[in-house]
Amino acid sequence: MEQKSFLQTGGRWTQVKIKTAIASADAIANYLFDHQAVGLEIQENNDEYSTLLAYFPQDDLTTMRLRNLRRFIAKLPSFGLPGEESITIEMRAYDSQDWANSWRSAFPPQEIGDHVVVAPTWHQMKEDEPQDDELGDQSGTEKILIRLDPGMAFGTGHHPTTRLSLHLLSGLPFKGREMVADIGTGSGILSILAVKMGAKKVIALDIDETALNVAEHNFVVNGIKDHVDLRQSEGLVNLTGKFHLIISNIVSQVILPMIPSYPQYLRKGGKLILSGILDSESQTIRTALRDHGFQCLQVRQQDEWVGILAQKGN
Ligand SMILES: C[S@@+](CC[C@H](N)C(=O)[O-])C[C@H]1O[C@@H](n2cnc3c(N)ncnc32)[C@H](O)[C@@H]1O
Repeated sequence: MEQKSFLQTGGRWTQVKIKTAIASADAIANYLFDHQAVGLEIQENNDEYSTLLAYFPQDDLTTMRLRNLRRFIAKLPSFGLPGEESITIEMRAYDSQDWANSWRSAFPPQEIGDHVVVAPTWHQMKEDEPQDDELGDQSGTEKILIRLDPGMAFGTGHHPTTRLSLHLLSGLPFKGREMVADIGTGSGILSILAVKMGAKKVIALDIDETALNVAEHNFVVNGIKDHVDLRQSEGLVNLTGKFHLIISNIVSQVILPMIPSYPQYLRKGGKLILSGILDSESQTIRTALRDHGFQCLQVRQQDEWVGILAQKGN
Protein backbone atom coordinates (compact mmCIF):
# COMPACT_ATOMS: atom_id res chain seq x y z
CA MET A 1 0.00 0.00 0.00
CA GLU A 2 1.35 3.39 -0.92
CA GLN A 3 1.99 5.53 2.13
CA LYS A 4 0.21 8.88 2.22
CA SER A 5 2.84 11.60 2.22
CA PHE A 6 2.66 14.88 4.16
CA LEU A 7 3.14 16.38 0.75
CA GLN A 8 -0.10 14.98 -0.56
CA THR A 9 -2.25 16.47 2.13
CA GLY A 10 -3.47 19.47 0.17
CA GLY A 11 -2.92 23.20 0.57
CA ARG A 12 -1.49 25.95 -1.64
CA TRP A 13 2.18 26.66 -2.07
CA THR A 14 4.32 29.48 -3.31
CA GLN A 15 7.13 28.65 -5.67
CA VAL A 16 10.00 31.13 -5.55
CA LYS A 17 12.28 30.96 -8.58
CA ILE A 18 15.64 32.67 -8.18
CA LYS A 19 18.09 33.06 -10.99
CA THR A 20 21.41 34.03 -9.49
CA ALA A 21 25.06 34.45 -10.33
CA ILE A 22 26.58 31.06 -9.43
CA ALA A 23 28.85 32.60 -6.78
CA SER A 24 25.81 33.57 -4.68
CA ALA A 25 23.82 30.34 -5.22
CA ASP A 26 25.09 28.46 -2.12
CA ALA A 27 24.49 31.43 0.18
CA ILE A 28 20.93 31.84 -1.12
CA ALA A 29 20.23 28.09 -0.94
CA ASN A 30 21.45 28.02 2.68
CA TYR A 31 19.31 31.06 3.48
CA LEU A 32 16.24 29.34 2.01
CA PHE A 33 16.93 26.14 3.96
CA ASP A 34 17.47 28.09 7.16
CA HIS A 35 14.20 29.93 6.61
CA GLN A 36 12.07 26.82 6.32
CA ALA A 37 11.80 26.38 2.57
CA VAL A 38 9.81 23.17 2.38
CA GLY A 39 11.52 22.05 -0.79
CA LEU A 40 14.49 23.27 -2.74
CA GLU A 41 15.72 22.33 -6.19
CA ILE A 42 19.01 23.53 -7.56
CA GLN A 43 19.19 23.59 -11.33
CA GLU A 44 22.63 24.61 -12.48
CA ASN A 45 22.26 26.24 -15.86
CA ASN A 46 25.80 27.03 -16.82
CA ASP A 47 29.09 28.13 -15.30
CA GLU A 48 27.79 31.59 -14.52
CA TYR A 49 24.16 31.27 -13.46
CA SER A 50 22.13 28.93 -11.29
CA THR A 51 18.35 28.68 -10.95
CA LEU A 52 16.91 27.74 -7.55
CA LEU A 53 13.31 26.69 -6.99
CA ALA A 54 12.09 26.94 -3.40
CA TYR A 55 8.64 26.12 -2.04
CA PHE A 56 6.85 27.73 0.89
CA PRO A 57 3.32 27.30 2.20
CA GLN A 58 1.10 30.06 0.82
CA ASP A 59 0.02 31.91 3.94
CA ASP A 60 0.03 35.38 5.47
CA LEU A 61 3.84 35.23 5.87
CA THR A 62 4.43 35.05 2.10
CA THR A 63 4.97 38.80 1.62
CA MET A 64 7.26 39.01 4.65
CA ARG A 65 9.34 36.05 3.42
CA LEU A 66 9.89 37.74 0.07
CA ARG A 67 10.82 41.03 1.74
CA ASN A 68 13.35 39.27 4.01
CA LEU A 69 14.80 37.36 1.06
CA ARG A 70 15.29 40.62 -0.84
CA ARG A 71 16.98 42.16 2.24
CA PHE A 72 19.31 39.16 2.47
CA ILE A 73 20.17 39.45 -1.23
CA ALA A 74 20.86 43.18 -0.80
CA LYS A 75 23.44 42.30 1.89
CA LEU A 76 25.34 39.74 -0.24
CA PRO A 77 27.88 42.29 -1.59
CA SER A 78 29.03 42.92 2.01
CA PHE A 79 30.17 39.24 2.00
CA GLY A 80 31.98 39.80 -1.29
CA LEU A 81 29.22 38.05 -3.30
CA PRO A 82 27.25 39.28 -6.30
CA GLY A 83 23.99 40.93 -5.21
CA GLU A 84 20.74 42.34 -6.58
CA GLU A 85 22.08 43.35 -9.98
CA SER A 86 22.77 39.70 -10.87
CA ILE A 87 19.70 38.11 -9.27
CA THR A 88 16.07 37.86 -10.40
CA ILE A 89 13.18 36.56 -8.31
CA GLU A 90 9.84 35.29 -9.59
CA MET A 91 6.97 33.97 -7.51
CA ARG A 92 3.95 31.94 -8.45
CA ALA A 93 1.21 29.97 -6.77
CA TYR A 94 1.58 26.23 -6.96
CA ASP A 95 -1.01 23.61 -6.18
CA SER A 96 -0.01 20.82 -3.85
CA GLN A 97 -0.04 18.10 -6.50
CA ASP A 98 2.38 19.98 -8.77
CA TRP A 99 4.50 20.77 -5.78
CA ALA A 100 4.52 17.20 -4.47
CA ASN A 101 5.68 15.93 -7.85
CA SER A 102 8.37 18.56 -8.07
CA TRP A 103 9.57 17.76 -4.54
CA ARG A 104 9.68 14.08 -5.35
CA SER A 105 11.99 14.54 -8.28
CA ALA A 106 14.20 16.86 -6.21
CA PHE A 107 14.87 14.20 -3.56
CA PRO A 108 16.08 10.95 -5.08
CA PRO A 109 17.33 8.24 -2.69
CA GLN A 110 20.92 8.71 -1.67
CA GLU A 111 23.69 6.67 -0.13
CA ILE A 112 25.65 7.96 2.84
CA GLY A 113 28.94 6.09 2.99
CA ASP A 114 28.72 2.33 2.41
CA HIS A 115 25.99 1.43 4.88
CA VAL A 116 23.23 4.01 4.94
CA VAL A 117 20.52 4.71 2.35
CA VAL A 118 18.07 7.59 2.81
CA ALA A 119 14.98 7.27 0.64
CA PRO A 120 11.79 9.30 0.57
CA THR A 121 8.66 7.38 1.57
CA TRP A 122 7.31 7.44 -1.98
CA HIS A 123 10.35 5.82 -3.57
CA GLN A 124 9.82 2.18 -4.58
CA MET A 125 12.98 0.30 -3.52
CA LYS A 126 14.50 -1.96 -6.20
CA GLU A 127 15.27 -5.61 -5.53
CA ASP A 128 18.97 -5.02 -4.95
CA GLU A 129 18.28 -2.14 -2.54
CA PRO A 130 17.48 -2.43 1.20
CA GLN A 131 13.82 -3.35 1.76
CA ASP A 132 11.08 -1.92 3.98
CA ASP A 133 10.53 -5.19 5.79
CA GLU A 134 13.90 -4.55 7.36
CA LEU A 135 12.74 -1.30 8.94
CA GLY A 136 13.05 -1.05 12.74
CA ASP A 137 16.26 -2.14 14.45
CA GLN A 138 18.68 -2.79 11.60
CA SER A 139 21.87 -3.11 13.63
CA GLY A 140 23.86 -5.98 12.17
CA THR A 141 22.31 -5.65 8.70
CA GLU A 142 24.56 -4.73 5.84
CA LYS A 143 22.68 -1.57 4.79
CA ILE A 144 20.44 0.61 6.87
CA LEU A 145 17.39 2.12 5.18
CA ILE A 146 15.99 5.40 6.47
CA ARG A 147 12.56 6.29 5.07
CA LEU A 148 11.84 10.01 5.16
CA ASP A 149 8.88 12.23 4.59
CA PRO A 150 10.61 15.59 4.84
CA GLY A 151 7.44 17.62 5.39
CA MET A 152 8.25 21.09 6.64
CA ALA A 153 11.24 20.19 8.82
CA PHE A 154 14.92 20.40 8.06
CA GLY A 155 16.74 17.13 7.47
CA THR A 156 16.34 15.36 4.13
CA GLY A 157 19.90 14.07 4.15
CA HIS A 158 20.73 16.25 1.15
CA HIS A 159 22.14 19.19 3.09
CA PRO A 160 25.88 18.92 3.86
CA THR A 161 25.32 19.44 7.61
CA THR A 162 22.99 16.43 7.76
CA ARG A 163 25.26 14.32 5.55
CA LEU A 164 28.27 15.10 7.76
CA SER A 165 26.29 14.09 10.87
CA LEU A 166 25.09 10.86 9.23
CA HIS A 167 28.66 10.01 8.17
CA LEU A 168 30.09 10.58 11.64
CA LEU A 169 27.23 8.68 13.30
CA SER A 170 27.40 5.72 10.93
CA GLY A 171 31.08 5.22 11.81
CA LEU A 172 30.39 4.70 15.54
CA PRO A 173 30.16 1.25 17.14
CA PHE A 174 26.84 0.52 18.89
CA LYS A 175 26.37 -2.29 21.42
CA GLY A 176 22.63 -2.01 21.90
CA ARG A 177 22.58 -0.24 25.27
CA GLU A 178 23.43 3.30 24.23
CA MET A 179 21.48 6.33 25.42
CA VAL A 180 21.57 9.12 22.83
CA ALA A 181 20.35 12.75 22.82
CA ASP A 182 19.58 14.43 19.49
CA ILE A 183 19.35 18.19 20.08
CA GLY A 184 17.64 19.88 17.10
CA THR A 185 16.15 16.70 15.66
CA GLY A 186 14.35 18.40 12.72
CA SER A 187 12.93 15.60 10.55
CA GLY A 188 14.31 13.09 13.09
CA ILE A 189 16.78 11.67 10.57
CA LEU A 190 19.73 11.35 12.99
CA SER A 191 17.62 9.81 15.76
CA ILE A 192 16.34 7.25 13.26
CA LEU A 193 19.86 6.26 12.26
CA ALA A 194 20.98 6.03 15.90
CA VAL A 195 18.13 3.64 16.76
CA LYS A 196 18.65 1.57 13.62
CA MET A 197 22.32 1.22 14.49
CA GLY A 198 21.32 -0.17 17.87
CA ALA A 199 20.88 2.71 20.34
CA LYS A 200 18.59 1.64 23.17
CA LYS A 201 16.89 5.02 23.55
CA VAL A 202 17.09 8.44 21.92
CA ILE A 203 15.86 11.67 23.49
CA ALA A 204 14.98 13.83 20.46
CA LEU A 205 14.47 17.55 21.12
CA ASP A 206 13.54 20.50 18.93
CA ILE A 207 12.30 24.01 19.62
CA ASP A 208 10.07 23.95 16.57
CA GLU A 209 6.64 22.37 16.92
CA THR A 210 6.36 21.70 13.18
CA ALA A 211 9.59 19.72 13.30
CA LEU A 212 8.19 17.61 16.14
CA ASN A 213 5.16 16.63 14.06
CA VAL A 214 7.33 15.69 11.10
CA ALA A 215 9.81 13.78 13.31
CA GLU A 216 7.03 11.82 15.00
CA HIS A 217 5.62 10.82 11.62
CA ASN A 218 9.07 9.69 10.47
CA PHE A 219 9.64 7.68 13.68
CA VAL A 220 6.39 5.79 13.01
CA VAL A 221 7.24 5.23 9.33
CA ASN A 222 10.61 3.75 10.35
CA GLY A 223 9.15 1.54 13.08
CA ILE A 224 11.27 3.09 15.85
CA LYS A 225 8.73 5.21 17.76
CA ASP A 226 9.05 3.14 20.95
CA HIS A 227 12.76 3.85 21.13
CA VAL A 228 12.44 7.64 20.96
CA ASP A 229 11.34 10.16 23.52
CA LEU A 230 10.39 13.24 21.47
CA ARG A 231 9.99 16.60 23.23
CA GLN A 232 9.73 20.28 22.42
CA SER A 233 12.62 21.95 24.17
CA GLU A 234 15.36 24.51 23.69
CA GLY A 235 18.99 23.46 23.89
CA LEU A 236 19.96 21.33 26.89
CA VAL A 237 17.75 23.01 29.49
CA ASN A 238 15.28 20.17 30.00
CA LEU A 239 17.70 17.33 29.47
CA THR A 240 18.21 14.93 32.36
CA GLY A 241 20.50 11.93 32.68
CA LYS A 242 23.85 10.97 31.20
CA PHE A 243 24.28 9.92 27.59
CA HIS A 244 26.74 7.82 25.63
CA LEU A 245 26.30 10.19 22.68
CA ILE A 246 24.90 13.68 22.10
CA ILE A 247 24.30 14.95 18.57
CA SER A 248 23.69 18.62 17.73
CA ASN A 249 23.31 19.66 14.12
CA ILE A 250 22.14 23.24 14.65
CA VAL A 251 24.34 26.29 14.01
CA SER A 252 27.55 27.49 15.71
CA GLN A 253 25.78 30.40 17.39
CA VAL A 254 23.59 27.90 19.25
CA ILE A 255 26.23 25.20 19.73
CA LEU A 256 29.05 27.37 21.12
CA PRO A 257 27.23 28.46 24.32
CA MET A 258 26.20 24.83 24.93
CA ILE A 259 29.78 23.48 24.91
CA PRO A 260 30.44 24.15 28.65
CA SER A 261 27.23 22.23 29.50
CA TYR A 262 27.65 19.12 27.30
CA PRO A 263 30.05 17.32 29.72
CA GLN A 264 27.48 17.18 32.51
CA TYR A 265 25.14 15.19 30.24
CA LEU A 266 27.78 12.83 28.90
CA ARG A 267 29.10 9.66 30.48
CA LYS A 268 32.83 9.24 30.93
CA GLY A 269 34.26 8.74 27.43
CA GLY A 270 30.89 9.83 25.95
CA LYS A 271 30.88 11.20 22.43
CA LEU A 272 29.61 14.38 20.85
CA ILE A 273 28.74 14.94 17.19
CA LEU A 274 28.52 18.61 16.22
CA SER A 275 27.44 19.91 12.82
CA GLY A 276 26.03 23.09 11.31
CA ILE A 277 29.49 24.64 11.70
CA LEU A 278 31.00 26.75 8.94
CA ASP A 279 34.63 26.15 8.11
CA SER A 280 35.37 29.72 9.27
CA GLU A 281 33.85 28.91 12.70
CA SER A 282 35.42 25.50 13.15
CA GLN A 283 38.57 26.64 14.98
CA THR A 284 36.53 28.53 17.59
CA ILE A 285 34.37 25.46 18.23
CA ARG A 286 37.41 23.15 18.45
CA THR A 287 39.17 25.47 20.88
CA ALA A 288 36.05 25.64 23.07
CA LEU A 289 35.79 21.83 22.99
CA ARG A 290 39.40 21.46 24.07
CA ASP A 291 38.94 24.05 26.84
CA HIS A 292 36.08 21.96 28.21
CA GLY A 293 37.93 18.66 28.29
CA PHE A 294 37.02 17.22 24.88
CA GLN A 295 39.33 15.53 22.45
CA CYS A 296 38.47 15.96 18.76
CA LEU A 297 38.46 12.48 17.19
CA GLN A 298 37.39 13.37 13.69
CA VAL A 299 36.74 16.49 11.66
CA ARG A 300 34.90 16.06 8.34
CA GLN A 301 34.25 18.74 5.79
CA GLN A 302 31.82 19.07 2.88
CA ASP A 303 31.80 22.32 0.92
CA GLU A 304 32.06 25.11 3.52
CA TRP A 305 30.51 22.95 6.28
CA VAL A 306 32.35 21.07 9.01
CA GLY A 307 31.22 18.19 11.26
CA ILE A 308 33.12 17.26 14.40
CA LEU A 309 33.23 14.03 16.43
CA ALA A 310 34.63 14.68 19.91
CA GLN A 311 35.02 12.63 23.06
CA LYS A 312 34.69 13.65 26.66
CA GLY A 313 37.81 12.98 28.73
CA ASN A 314 37.77 11.92 32.39
C1 LIG B 1 20.01 22.20 10.85
S1 LIG B 1 18.52 21.52 11.46
C2 LIG B 1 19.02 19.84 11.77
C3 LIG B 1 17.93 18.82 11.60
C4 LIG B 1 18.39 17.37 11.63
N1 LIG B 1 18.91 17.02 12.94
C5 LIG B 1 19.45 17.11 10.58
O1 LIG B 1 20.57 16.76 10.96
O2 LIG B 1 19.17 17.25 9.39
C6 LIG B 1 18.48 22.24 13.07
C7 LIG B 1 17.23 21.94 13.89
O3 LIG B 1 17.48 22.46 15.20
C8 LIG B 1 16.33 23.11 15.68
N2 LIG B 1 16.82 24.11 16.66
C9 LIG B 1 17.34 25.34 16.42
N3 LIG B 1 17.75 25.90 17.57
C10 LIG B 1 17.48 25.01 18.55
C11 LIG B 1 17.66 25.01 19.98
N4 LIG B 1 18.20 26.05 20.62
N5 LIG B 1 17.26 23.92 20.68
C12 LIG B 1 16.71 22.86 20.06
N6 LIG B 1 16.50 22.81 18.70
C13 LIG B 1 16.89 23.86 17.98
C14 LIG B 1 15.65 23.68 14.45
O4 LIG B 1 14.27 23.87 14.68
C15 LIG B 1 15.95 22.59 13.40
O5 LIG B 1 14.92 21.63 13.35
